[in-house]
Amino acid sequence: MASTTETATPMILTQSNVWKSLLHRAALHQQKHLRDLFAEDPQRYARFSVEALGILLDFSKNRIDDSSFKHLIDLANACDLRARIDAMFRGDRINITENRAVLHVALRAPRNASILMDGKNVVPDVHAVLDRMHEFATRVRSGSWLGHTGKRIRNVVNIGIGGSDLGPVMAYEALRHYSDRSMTFRFVSNIDGIDFFEATRDLDPAETLFVVSSKTFTTLETMTNAETARSWLLQGLGGDPKAVAKHFVAVSTNAEKVAAFGIDTANMFGFWDWVGGRYSMDSAIGLSTMLAIGPDNFRSMLHGFHEMDEHFRTAAFDKNLPVILGLLTVWYVNFFGAQTVAVLPYENYLKRFPAYLQQLTMESNGKYVTLQGTPVDYATSPIYWGEPGTNGQHSFYQLIHQGTHLIPCDFIAFANPATRIGRHHDLLIANVLAQSEALAFGKTASEVRAEGTPEWLVPHRVFEGNRPSNTLFADRLTPEMLGKLVALYEHSVYVQGVIWNVNPFDQWGVELGKALAQRIIPELESPECPPLSHDSSTNQLIERYRAMRQTEKGAQ
Ligand code: F6P
Repeated sequence: MASTTETATPMILTQSNVWKSLLHRAALHQQKHLRDLFAEDPQRYARFSVEALGILLDFSKNRIDDSSFKHLIDLANACDLRARIDAMFRGDRINITENRAVLHVALRAPRNASILMDGKNVVPDVHAVLDRMHEFATRVRSGSWLGHTGKRIRNVVNIGIGGSDLGPVMAYEALRHYSDRSMTFRFVSNIDGIDFFEATRDLDPAETLFVVSSKTFTTLETMTNAETARSWLLQGLGGDPKAVAKHFVAVSTNAEKVAAFGIDTANMFGFWDWVGGRYSMDSAIGLSTMLAIGPDNFRSMLHGFHEMDEHFRTAAFDKNLPVILGLLTVWYVNFFGAQTVAVLPYENYLKRFPAYLQQLTMESNGKYVTLQGTPVDYATSPIYWGEPGTNGQHSFYQLIHQGTHLIPCDFIAFANPATRIGRHHDLLIANVLAQSEALAFGKTASEVRAEGTPEWLVPHRVFEGNRPSNTLFADRLTPEMLGKLVALYEHSVYVQGVIWNVNPFDQWGVELGKALAQRIIPELESPECPPLSHDSSTNQLIERYRAMRQTEKGAQ
């Protein structure tokens, strides 16, 4: 049964009074520059910054004032955000198109918590899996889990894609400082065989453990890579099929398929259909993360997640980090026409964070149909993108400063690096502060002229400013902090989905391409070209590929 919260006819968003008020506020803001907003209010930073759980969110460099901020909070209330948050935490089946609860918050609930799913407390199951992961990770890391030939495991290769890859890679990169440096971690996702080849070409099969991560255990890329991995292993270890048990573990919700693949279900770590793929890095999908950073650090990360869950669930909206972040995104997308959001971590360990966020945000809210199945008449998810600073400054920041698109930016920075080397960190932080200042305040023509710039060059050197940004600032990137940061964005995505009245937890939009690929595979591989009945473009491209393709033999 779908929950009543989801099926009740909601207000027509764009015809609501609060939406109209926000349109009016946004029109007034078109005339207002951030320079004026700061000049008019010496308390602006204090008014528009919130600190919680060791994260400072400075949102004062946004194009808001008290009234527009209040109206955004009103919008959240008008959309019943509080009830919708409660529905998620209560285990209601808010993923109505798949008739599933959405309980990633249970993955990080403490052992003594109780979260009911169809009347059953799921928390003991979560901790039972965590305890098994803990034991297994300890055995591998200590060298007591041996490979088929008696050698200890030194390499871990996670095979997965989407949520079964992006979270594990991002977390491994983010927490590398905390990882066991004597072990090698690789991640294979792409169906492009080069991904597997490059990840394994220098590894000894006798020392390599594959973690096959797939919620469904049916995903084409993952199953193809897992088959290739099995052949690679058996070829390297003399062909004894018993070797698989020592070198393959599975993470999945699908025990039947795991067994059918040939992995002993005793070596399977489970999770549940109420965990969405892109919300699963803290489930057993995080096994490679736990192998890298150790069980205690993994549990600290879960604690960070949980702290943010509790903050999201209980804090007043005007002090609630995910709510503020989500509402500001709605503000720019729907009232200023912004089409993208840039996430710019000034922390090299977070280099895969923007890629991780792309799936989290866009697979969640990239929808044009409401929960009631009607088309929306407003924009939904922006395109998320980004690169670590300062690299991006020497690449695309030109467009953020002087281009024709309004691009709200999230800057992320930490006071302390994992390793302080000379002046590097001071220079890094000087840059992140300089960027948000430059974007907000710009440089006027008179300031440019005052520097002696020739008149013809003045327009080129003016920065109009008034470009919004948030700065997220914390002490250092620890496992706990990573958990807080990821949960912050997870919940911000939910806030946006609630306002837009879409289902952030399904992903039907990925299905068509998968089905068409299944149809095309035999058309490429069969010895005789079957009759093709696609459009003329697709037919021709298939024929061109068949004509140009060299078989493995031909390529030698
Ligand atoms: O194709 C999209 C998707 O279903 C994602 O939502 C998911 O994270 C990914 O594929 C991988 O799915 P699985 O874990 O079942 O292999």
